[in-house]
Amino acid sequence: MFILGIETTCDETGIGLIEFKNSEELKIHNNELASQVKIHQQYGGVVPLLAAREHEKNLPYLLKNIEKKFDLRKIDYLAFSVGPGLLPALISGKNFVKSLAQKINKKIIPVDHLRAHLYSILIKNQIGKWQKIRKIPFPAIGLIVSGGHTNLYLMHNFENKKLLGKTLDDAVGEILDKCARFLSLPYPGGPQIEKYAKRGNYYFSLPKPLINHRGYDFSFSGLKSAFIDLVTEIIKYQNITHIRGKEKLISDLAYSLQKTAFEVLISKTKKAIDEFQIKSIIVSGGVAANQTLKKMFRFYFPYQKIFFPERSLATDNGLNIALAGYFIKAKAVDKTKLEVYDHL
Ligand code: KG4
Ligand code: ZN
Repeated sequence: MFILGIETTCDETGIGLIEFKNSEELKIHNNELASQVKIHQQYGGVVPLLAAREHEKNLPYLLKNIEKKFDLRKIDYLAFSVGPGLLPALISGKNFVKSLAQKINKKIIPVDHLRAHLYSILIKNQIGKWQKIRKIPFPAIGLIVSGGHTNLYLMHNFENKKLLGKTLDDAVGEILDKCARFLSLPYPGGPQIEKYAKRGNYYFSLPKPLINHRGYDFSFSGLKSAFIDLVTEIIKYQNITHIRGKEKLISDLAYSLQKTAFEVLISKTKKAIDEFQIKSIIVSGGVAANQTLKKMFRFYFPYQKIFFPERSLATDNGLNIALAGYFIKAKAVDKTKLEVYDHL
């Protein structure tokens, strides 16, 4: 069975094509990705209408790459990311999938973007070879850390899960992006913070909001404000006009921010592990591309089975959508029924 997955929730245009032998084995045929980073970089963050315009431009071109070697009529289902995401960007994806479904007369699987992040840990990003789909021991703690979300779940399996807590304000990726911007680092800030943090070693004390709170919710906007205040103070104290070029200082600030934010993630995960009998931990979403986060999880939970996506599958892409689509294909809708999603 062939499933084409289409991703347009934010600033990555992705189309992935996966062939499934069954629920245990698959082969990736294509992982087409057009990043818009360069376009949004000049604005310091994603501009939704620009993102939508780029998706409209990129999607036909990415599909053409697939069509070069593959007859689209062989596709069984078209999966697309139905949200959450930027509204104009989602509309581009929906319009594209709708017209493609009409053209090749196939059913559409609307896929929740967050669900696709969780599934991303199951596969290797390897083109053209049959691979076994990873088996996950459940129950598991699932943590999604992305630019828009910080969600903690108790998962009985991928489709049966309970949301234990989420961020009450900014997502963890969002504060990394915003704080990086304050340090004059280019968008997206997460990978920049990771890069600079590796060279930092001095820890500036920062608050860990809600860390001692009884529940599982997160809050990161206070950390962001404290970080901005700290940088402002340092600039004033050192009598400098801006921080650009102060490599050692930027590295120590990045190190402090990353360490603080990640310790909050570890602390809430630990709390959940202590409360529930679990057999594994799943961490996914763009921030899960961070190698330091991965090391910290392994350090703090040495006896747990921990699953991270491959770095290239942590951030948004079409393969994750095709993969999740396979497991929820029973929810496929006829192309004419996609009107249900016209509120998008
Ligand atoms: O999942 P994703 O691609 O898009 C959303 O669904 O939001 O996540 C994007 C987020 C951005 O905030 C980005 O800065 C962050 O993931 N990110 C990282 C890294 N790579 C991407 N954060 C920390 N370290 C990284 N290496
Ligand atoms: Zn995402």
